[in-house]
Order: sequence, then structure tokens, then C-alpha cells
Amino acid sequence: MSNKKILLTGGSGGLGRQLTDLLLSKGYTVNVLSRGEGKDKRVQTFKWDVSKGIIDDVCIDGVDTIIHLAGAGIADERWTDERKKVVIESRTKSIELLYDLLKRKLHQVKAVVSASGTGYYSDRGDELLTEENPPANDFLGHCCVLWEQEVDEGKQLGLRVAKFRTGVVLDKHAGALPRLSAPIKFGFGAALGSGKQWIPWIHWQDVAGIYLYGIEQELEGVYNMVAPNPVTNKQLTKHVAQHLRRPLWLPNVPAFALNLALGEMSTLVLGSTKVAADKIEQAGYIFKFNSIDKALTDIYGR
Ligand SMILES: NC(=O)c1ccc[n+]([C@@H]2O[C@H](COP(=O)([O-])OP(=O)(O)OC[C@H]3O[C@@H](n4cnc5c(N)ncnc54)[C@H](OP(=O)(O)O)[C@@H]3O)[C@@H](O)[C@H]2O)c1
Repeated sequence: MSNKKILLTGGSGGLGRQLTDLLLSKGYTVNVLSRGEGKDKRVQTFKWDVSKGIIDDVCIDGVDTIIHLAGAGIADERWTDERKKVVIESRTKSIELLYDLLKRKLHQVKAVVSASGTGYYSDRGDELLTEENPPANDFLGHCCVLWEQEVDEGKQLGLRVAKFRTGVVLDKHAGALPRLSAPIKFGFGAALGSGKQWIPWIHWQDVAGIYLYGIEQELEGVYNMVAPNPVTNKQLTKHVAQHLRRPLWLPNVPAFALNLALGEMSTLVLGSTKVAADKIEQAGYIFKFNSIDKALTDIYGR
């Protein structure tokens, strides 16, 4: 059991809540930084307002490690110029605000562990992407580069910095899976575009597991946070249909229709990102869910 204290930004989000459960079960104390009132009585919630540069200074007291998950949802709204700014700045200005606090207040923070995304690589066909590959030259790539650069500023403060390029997190109640499974449940499921695009999936328990592993093993640098065996959009759609015991009979949704409906955001569903998990495995992390079948059996209970 640990008596360490963690400060979690974005702790009220889907991954933040799951990670909080795991950290508390392992004996950590958790502080959360949030724009709102905290609902979870097991943690202490402190307020910040990133756009106004306001932060409750006490949030950092006794904290050993910062975990940075805060950020406006990438798939939540259409990518207007204004929205793109919110998506980027909710990730960069937020960690900058925390670093400014560390500069002006005595503290004992030693490490920062941050989310990033496999959007760093974005749409790359069948290429197997390792942490050494360069970023994509589109909005997602640009966003992740700025996010990681700002997190890396922590090194100037003597912090150990770890970044996890997270793939598509599979969770029954949040993110991509409910959006994919809803039409399948109603008998209207279909693969998207060619269906050949690679999905860098990961089960939510491995996401929480890797964050904990990163803290406990004092990992440093950048790691892909994806399961070892990626699947294509068509394979994922078929597997979900099988687990939900629903037929798939419709032809693929044509790419042009998705481009028309989603504009630039269609990259999120049509982009192909085949990502390697070798580095985190070589660092000693053992995946709980390394096949899509195992992950979906756990999620759907059959
Ligand atoms: N889930 C995935 O599939 C996935 C994949 C790749 C990367 N990631 C990254 O992992 C992190 C956590 O993901 P998640 O799914 O848990 O996200 P989430 O459920 O959308 O939660 C993110 C949290 O960020 C805070 N937030 C939202 N808008 C903000 C803003 N404008 N300014 C400051 N804070 C804001 C919110 O906390 P408060 O309301 O309490 O302030 C929110 O609970 C995110 O950075 C996400 O991009 C997730």
C-alpha cells in the first residue's frame, strides 16, 4: 500500500474516475483539479479556471505526482477554428498553469504523467507506428505535438515526465464503443468507409493499469498506450456484433457520406492508425486484455 498523494487533472472524466478507483484501492490519496464542484467524496476537489488563469494553490500540497488528463473532448463538437483552440488550450494552458504554480510555491512534486493521443500519428495506412515515428501534419497531430511539448516543460522544473499516446479506449459506457455499438444493437450496424482502417484499441482497465505502472515503475518518456493486437474497423464492427449477438447485413457506410457529415473530423472514423505496443511491453507492463475478443468478452459479459 502506498501513502503517496496524486493530483489528477480531468479526474471527473471517464478515465479519471476509473483511475481514481484504482489509485484509491492501492492506498494513494487523490486530489482532483476541476472546473466544477467535485461529486466524489473520496477525493478532495480543488477548483481551477484555465481560461482565466485561476487555480487553488492548495491543490499541490503534499503531492508527489501530477497526472494530467484534462482536456475538452476531441470528438464532442465539430472542429471549428474556435473549437480547435479550446481542444488545444484546455490541454496546454492547463498544464502551463500548474507549472506556473510549481514555480512560485514550495512543493514536493517529482513527476508528471500525462495523456496524449495516437492522434499524434493520425491517418497512416498500414504502417506500424512506434514512438519514433514523426507526427502527422493535420489538426490531431498538431494538437498532440503542442500538448506533449507543453507537458515536457516540466523537465525544466526537474520533474520526471511520462506521456502516454492513448488509442481508442474501449469502455461500455463512454467514448467510441457506445457510439459504435448503438446502431449494431438496433440492427443498423455497418463498417465505416473501406472498413480497412486500423483502430488502435485498448481496454479501459489497461489504461488505468498503465498509468499506475507508470507511477510505480517511474517510467519516463513517451509510450504508445494501445493493446498489442490492433484490428481494422471492419473486424471491430464484426466482433462487437458477435458479442451483442446481432447480425450485420448493411453495406459499409460510404466514406463520402462521412466526409460530408463530419468534415475534417471524419479522420476520427476513417483514419487508419496501426500502433505498436512493444515499448510499454518491453518496459514490463503485462496487458490484461491483449486480444479484442478477450476485451469485448469482459465488456459485454459474453
Ligand atoms: N477516452 C479515450 O478514448 C481517449 C483516447 C485518447 C486520449 N484520451 C485522452 O485522455 C484524457 C482523458 O480522457 P477521458 O476520456 O477521461 O476524457 P473526458 O471524459 O472527456 O474527461 C476530460 C476531463 O477534462 C476536463 N475538461 C473538459 N473540458 C475542459 C476545459 N475546456 N478546460 C479544462 N478542463 C476540461 C473535465 O473535467 P472537469 O469538468 O472536472 O473540469 C473532464 O472531465 C483526455 O485528455 C483525452 O484526450 C482519451
